Amino acid sequence: MRRPIIAGNWKLNKTPKESKALSKEILKKVQDVKNVDILVCPVFTSLSVVDQVIKGSVVKLGAQNCYWENSGAFTGEVSPQMIKELGCGYVIIGHSERRAMFSETNETVNKKIKAALTDNLIPILCVGETLSEREAKETLEVIRSHVEGGLNGLDKQQAKNLIIAYEPLWAIGTGKVATPEQAEEVHKFIRELLEKLYDKSISDAVRIQYGGSVKPDNAEELMKKPNIDGALIGGASLKADSFAEIVAITSKLV
Ligand code: PGA
Repeated sequence: MRRPIIAGNWKLNKTPKESKALSKEILKKVQDVKNVDILVCPVFTSLSVVDQVIKGSVVKLGAQNCYWENSGAFTGEVSPQMIKELGCGYVIIGHSERRAMFSETNETVNKKIKAALTDNLIPILCVGETLSEREAKETLEVIRSHVEGGLNGLDKQQAKNLIIAYEPLWAIGTGKVATPEQAEEVHKFIRELLEKLYDKSISDAVRIQYGGSVKPDNAEELMKKPNIDGALIGGASLKADSFAEIVAITSKLV
């Protein structure tokens, strides 16, 4: 019912030259896929070269972060307008690495989401619990606070346009993937929460990606779950073969 979206989060990897090569390779392998949204999110400095490669194709461009102001004395920041002009349609907001290492909070994440939406970017709101939170059985409370905090003050129309990525921190870059059942439990919880916060038209429409050690050999079982609408992929998105394989697996399930 919802169109799946497979996104590559390249994190702090690939120079512009390397990004150009990787995006060319990816494009060659996925260019005929019509039933899945495909997204790559390189570092800021590679956005422009990657845009030149994928422009007009099935592969779309996203950034990994943005600030909430469009200009001013904010040394080192990059605005929604700027990434939009470089060809971005999407932006990852509140990735757990940014929350943990760059002091992002629900409040700053919320400001960034609002700013991104104002400039017609589709935000991918990242939510997820740590291992100790999971072990203390706090997972759903943490997810609730990330979702409610991120969406604070957003109206129905704004909420409808965004994507949520559930990424348990203990599964990111660890090779330790959540079981499809663990992931589905949280995805279902997020969908029910969206229905409570808005209504069924919103909870039915919003796509919820899973992220955390998604690989070709575990993608199918995850993507088969009714509330999992795609993946946000780190490590496996840095190789054209594995990224394209996950796209192909998802496409076959549609
Ligand atoms: P991973 O990263 O696929 O390398 O676990 C996912 C993410 O952080 O988005």
